[in-house]
Amino acid sequence: MCHVLVTLALALDEGAGTPFNFHAKHIEPYPYYESNGILDHDFYAALARDFPPVPDAVRTGRNALGNKSIRRTDSAYAHLLAHSAAWRALDRFVYSPRMIDLCMRLFGDALRSNPKCRVDPSKARFVDRNETLSTRDPRTGAYTGGGIRTGPYYHRRRLRTGDPNELYVVMDFFHGPGADVARAQRAGRKAYTFGRHLDWPFRVASLLIYFTDTDESTGGHLQVYNGSRVHRSIAIKQNSGISHLSPDARAWHGVPTYTGQGYRRLVQIQLSSSWSVCRDSNADIYVN
Ligand SMILES: *[C@@H]1O[C@H](CO)[C@@H](O)[C@H](O)[C@H]1NC(C)=O
Ligand SMILES: *[C@@H]1O[C@H](CO)[C@@H](O)[C@H](O)[C@H]1NC(C)=O
Ligand SMILES: *[C@@H]1O[C@H](CO)[C@@H](O)[C@H](O)[C@H]1NC(C)=O
Repeated sequence: MCHVLVTLALALDEGAGTPFNFHAKHIEPYPYYESNGILDHDFYAALARDFPPVPDAVRTGRNALGNKSIRRTDSAYAHLLAHSAAWRALDRFVYSPRMIDLCMRLFGDALRSNPKCRVDPSKARFVDRNETLSTRDPRTGAYTGGGIRTGPYYHRRRLRTGDPNELYVVMDFFHGPGADVARAQRAGRKAYTFGRHLDWPFRVASLLIYFTDTDESTGGHLQVYNGSRVHRSIAIKQNSGISHLSPDARAWHGVPTYTGQGYRRLVQIQLSSSWSVCRDSNADIYVN
């Protein structure tokens, strides 16, 4: 196991490849990729073994980060990197120009073919930037991670300076409580769910890596929408991955309530720009 990890870390550092394997590309109803083994088996096993424990704030139902549980700038993340060679290897790949190159290979054609998209795949480049905590959804008050500036309508006042081709990466952890956890938490706490929505328009691409098994009986699967209709339900499994072009105006998706055991765990890796990329920044992202 150790040997495999060292070899993988070296291969990643030398730019020899990416840790991600995609097995299927879809173009309808919008561009997305899926994989039922996104990471090599041993690498995934090491990441899963070292996956950070549920933070206290999530356990007690007082998560100030909304659906997210751990971010790059949290002490829990520093602790994770200090103790896990596997997460260090993934971190080094994700927060580097190689992550941008990978996403441009996946979505460059889609970005080029939409004249509204402000990111030029041949000019896209990595910048290191951390988002602030004070970005909340004005309607729900929930932290969304949406932006590097504060303000109640941050998604409208998105920092429109600099080069839209400068892309930064955010990797966030999710521990979405299942029904049993929600019952055990404070009154009114709900199991994880996320209705039909789009990503913020300044996200360029999203990659989700799942660490929990779901099926029809547990909910928590991923729904790909064609407009307002469910086009496909994907029963996510451990080591499965989904990647989509976030600013695409058709990229509706959602998660029905997770009623399974424990927490629905995943990491979400998002490429972001300081501009809205292919959609109007005033456009709504939820449908109630
Ligand atoms: C999406 O929905 C539209 C309108 O109902 C339909 O015409 C189209 O064929 C659907 N696309 C796919 C890929 O199912
Ligand atoms: C972002 O946060 C990480 C973790 O604390 C740190 O290593 C990195 O240097 C920060 N980047 C910037 C641009 O502040
Ligand atoms: C996740 O975020 C969505 C949108 O803000 C919200 O509707 C939902 O209640 C959140 N779920 C949890 C478990 O916080």
